[in-house]
Amino acid sequence: MAYTVKNEKLKQWVDGVAKMCQPDRVYWCTGTKREYNRLMKQMVASGAAIKLEKRANSFLFRSDPSDVARVEARTYISYPTRDQAGPTNNWIATDELKQIMTGLYNGCMRGRTMYVIPFMMGPFGSPMSRIGIEITDSPYVVCNMHIMTRVGTRVIEELGADGEFIPCLHSVGAPLEPGQKDEPWPCAPMEQKYISHFPDENLIWSYGSGYGGNALLGKKCLALRIASAMAKREGWMAEHMLILRLISPVGKQYHIAAAFPSACGKTNLAMIQPTIPGWKAECIGDDIAWMKIGPDGRLYAINPESGFFGVAPGTSYSSNPMAMESVKENTIFTNCALTDDGDIWWEGMDGPAPAHTIDWKGRDWTPQSTEPAAHPNARFTAPASQCPVICSDWEKPEGVPIDILIFGGRRATVVPLVTEAFGWDHGVYMGATAASETTAANIGAVGNLRRDPFAMTPFCGYNMGDYFQHWFDMGDRLGNKAPRIFYVNWFRKSPTGKWLWPGFGENSRVLKWMCERLEGTAGAQKTAIGYVPNKEDLDLSGLTIPDENIEELLRVDNNAWRAEIPDVEAFFAKFGNRLPERLRQQLANLRERLG
Ligand code: GTP
Ligand code: SPV
Ligand code: MN
Repeated sequence: MAYTVKNEKLKQWVDGVAKMCQPDRVYWCTGTKREYNRLMKQMVASGAAIKLEKRANSFLFRSDPSDVARVEARTYISYPTRDQAGPTNNWIATDELKQIMTGLYNGCMRGRTMYVIPFMMGPFGSPMSRIGIEITDSPYVVCNMHIMTRVGTRVIEELGADGEFIPCLHSVGAPLEPGQKDEPWPCAPMEQKYISHFPDENLIWSYGSGYGGNALLGKKCLALRIASAMAKREGWMAEHMLILRLISPVGKQYHIAAAFPSACGKTNLAMIQPTIPGWKAECIGDDIAWMKIGPDGRLYAINPESGFFGVAPGTSYSSNPMAMESVKENTIFTNCALTDDGDIWWEGMDGPAPAHTIDWKGRDWTPQSTEPAAHPNARFTAPASQCPVICSDWEKPEGVPIDILIFGGRRATVVPLVTEAFGWDHGVYMGATAASETTAANIGAVGNLRRDPFAMTPFCGYNMGDYFQHWFDMGDRLGNKAPRIFYVNWFRKSPTGKWLWPGFGENSRVLKWMCERLEGTAGAQKTAIGYVPNKEDLDLSGLTIPDENIEELLRVDNNAWRAEIPDVEAFFAKFGNRLPERLRQQLANLRERLG
């Protein structure tokens, strides 16, 4: 071991896990570049990773075809009683789940190294930061955690003898018998996968998957599911939100946090390059925001992560140039295609498709192939510090003061480009009733409309009814210092299935309108669902899209909104008496406004 661990609780936990999982050896991570390079070299030698000739210090991994995304169907929020997890979460009683998983963990690391990863979520020195310790038998996870979190000796120092940490246990669930050759991407079958959370103990147990949020436990498991439960208890917020700083032509800063479901545009908006003259934007975080009320009564946000685990397909110099710059080097690619000259490729990258690649399953691919070359949930793991527009204050210990909160989702119909809430309670209603078409970020059907309140359906670590109440409580505490709330939809389609709105950098026009609403300088029409800009209220200069697109994007069809009410009612009914009365009131108000 390269350092001395003084924390008895940590030593005991690691010893206990080692006894249960029976690895060949235990290795404590230091978080150094040398450690990263050594592990990568081992994985290249074993055939798990491919070194990219065309991209400095970058590697391609191909997952098992069964292990390509988060698995919500195998994700559990465990409490003694089902009601504590609520109607939106899978639940198994704590004792029973621990018994099942202990059975699986017994001997599960045989033939492997057990890595102990001390990591910090949030900047060093921030009162909002939290320490996690991930135990894993996957060197791929170790390297990803190096990028996504702050790993290393300094965390052990900060932990000291009696600091608090969140224990995160992970195994790919594939023990090796003596002499057995390892798979390039070991994992367990679906029915043995468990992504489990025990919020009462701040404990995470994950088994059977090596992919993304199932395995990089600092992200969804700690920073959202466990943190949301901590935040409820302690009076702060852990949200599935990007954070950005928008700067107006006169140099005024606006901080924006936005919650969209997985694969619905957070990374892209976080790195937006405004197309309107004079406006600038800087990235603070692309996936998760921890927010707390500051001494001045405003809501302050930090990004607990230190890297981007971004959706690759669709990322290009025209859609998201800052992401393309961020992945130029020191990047891990998973389930992308490999070009003949040793670079990666995916659908939607700039220029024509290459004549030949090796697809994400390792097969020859040509533009004539019937399947995509990259998996739709192929991802890049890149250090946030490599983003050319990373905000100079992105690691500020106290965070940045949030002016605007945005909710949204992927809706081909009904929902206009942008709506401003009448006030906090109405904004909470908008968040609570958000709905979006499902994406490849989860294993399951794609394109199905579902309610995804606050983009937190897969990530809320307790009863969502109580989470709704927490939003009202926070609003009450913030009072007139509360951020203004908006709802956006970049994904409206024409009857022939074309995007009505160009999206990406052009979304700055919508952000500008929001800022002008804050300043009181932009107009709007008052509709049944909120304030919607008139055509002339949006800065559309230099944009060449048909007038009828804009009209459609800003149209509020009361009949269509009325038709949604039974679904909202059925959704609300799931929460029984845990549904805040104030949400019921908001629904009644909406019904009345719709007439
Ligand atoms: P997670 O990492 O899963 O949380 O996803 P995310 O919310 O960060 O989504 P991301 O920004 O990676 O975008 C997902 C997909 O939506 C990508 O293929 C993008 O190209 C596409 N996308 C993002 N923004 C827009 C937009 O404004 N318009 C359109 N049409 N597509 C967009
Ligand atoms: C998401 O699904 O929201 C992601 C990817 O950000 S994962 O880390 O796999 O959860
Ligand atoms: Mn996400």
